[in-house]
Amino acid sequence: MKLSMISAMAHGRVIGTGHGGIPWHLPRDVKHFREYTQGKHLLLGRRTFEEMLGWFTDHHPIVLTHNTNYDPEVGSVAQTMESALDLALSTGAQELVVCGGSELYHTALPYADELILTLVEASVEGTVLFPDFEKDITWEAVSEKTFPADEANSYAMRFLHLRRLHPAAVRTEIKA
Ligand SMILES: NC(=O)c1ccc[n+]([C@@H]2O[C@H](COP(=O)([O-])OP(=O)(O)OC[C@H]3O[C@@H](n4cnc5c(N)ncnc54)[C@H](OP(=O)(O)O)[C@@H]3O)[C@@H](O)[C@H]2O)c1
Repeated sequence: MKLSMISAMAHGRVIGTGHGGIPWHLPRDVKHFREYTQGKHLLLGRRTFEEMLGWFTDHHPIVLTHNTNYDPEVGSVAQTMESALDLALSTGAQELVVCGGSELYHTALPYADELILTLVEASVEGTVLFPDFEKDITWEAVSEKTFPADEANSYAMRFLHLRRLHPAAVRTEIKA
């Protein structure tokens, strides 16, 4: 099973305002996110999951939380990264897509095989950051596409698909 992480970040790896929500509205990126995640198994931190409630259709969300009594409206729950991976594997998932937020991205980065990134050409206010994914990990570009700003999308953006050059870390408990 492949572990991918999908995220959109502005300059300085800003992904969130710090008081809930994403500091931009970019329909092109929303479409890209929807297309990539359609029908897939998703892993979400509890805060991001609650922000996205109502959004899930044909997805299989897994919520990561320390709360053993958590009872989500849709999907299933895991208390550790390893149990989330086991759960996805046990359902026959080919891919688990980590959808954030920051805390979960930091937890999941050592396990990530691929990154599906949108680099937003903007300097925005925000305290929630994507991890420093280039520190200690080498990635190769699978694809890259740049779009200018337009009437509907106020910032230019680059879709970047990266693959880890060396095997992802510590999957010792996972029998793929
Ligand atoms: N730009 C983007 O692409 C993007 C994508 C997603 C989210 N975001 C933004 O990111 C922000 C949310 O990020 P965040 O870091 O505050 O929250 P988060 O990662 O969405 O959720 C954090 C919560 O997830 C659970 N969790 C995380 N790691 C865990 C672990 N190792 N074991 C068990 N539980 C774990 C904990 O839940 P409990 O407290 O219940 O224990 C924790 O409080 C929002 O502003 C959102 O809009 C941006």
